[in-house]
Amino acid sequence: MSTESKTRAVTTFRLTEMKQRGEKISMLTAYDYSMAKILDAAGIDVILVGDSAANVVAGYETTVPMTLEHMIYHGRSVARAVNRALVVVDMPFGTYQGNTKEAVASAIRIMKETEADAVKMEGGEEIIESVERILSAGIPVMGHLGLTPQAIHKYGTYTVRAKEKEEADKLVRDAHLLEEAGCFGVVLEKIPAELGARVAAELKMPVIGIGAGGGVDGQVLVVHDMLGINDEFSPRFLRRYANLHDVMTDAFKQYIEDVKSGDFPNSAEQY
Ligand code: KIV
Repeated sequence: MSTESKTRAVTTFRLTEMKQRGEKISMLTAYDYSMAKILDAAGIDVILVGDSAANVVAGYETTVPMTLEHMIYHGRSVARAVNRALVVVDMPFGTYQGNTKEAVASAIRIMKETEADAVKMEGGEEIIESVERILSAGIPVMGHLGLTPQAIHKYGTYTVRAKEKEEADKLVRDAHLLEEAGCFGVVLEKIPAELGARVAAELKMPVIGIGAGGGVDGQVLVVHDMLGINDEFSPRFLRRYANLHDVMTDAFKQYIEDVKSGDFPNSAEQY
């Protein structure tokens, strides 16, 4: 591990300024060095080392199996590549929900061992003590409300959340609690657009949506989904910016053909 830690151009303070100016915030996930380097050079504002690595990298059905070691490995790989964007690492399931001491210890490990800038945690009132302890250790925290994939076994479905008044009211209360605790931002996942816009209007901290409509302060997508690497996931909120599944398949097929035919390597491609 390097002993120097980086100060990146995009800070949590800068994100608040962007919200105040009405400038939208761009955020995408990354899990490895090469992808993070491309994203950073392209000018993304925030890179999330999401525990969605469970789905798109490791092939698990849920994010529940991710461990602190997994997240530290991905976080470190990403942070090494990034000079400009703010790097946020997801705290994995089981490292903060039960015990505030363990929560602080987990967050400290992420910060020390990855050189990321902040952590993200799913939940509101039920995790607020852990959020406060982590913030008091000097670690910036981003919240995550609405569809919280780590709680999949509680809800049993990935459908749109907070459509009913009771759940929507709780989400608004939770968002205020996170802001009052000192979080620098919150992700709202898969909720009605009207609710997303209401939360963004009520809060001073930036609200980043994924399936939360256009009235929030910024957007996040899972990079494999927006690049079309995974062609099996098509929720309404997803816009595909490329079809890398087909581009990669064609490249792999061509390579296989070239190896089989003896065309690769040619005389210029050997020593
Ligand atoms: O893990 C993740 O990629 C996330 C995003 C969906 C916001 O939490």
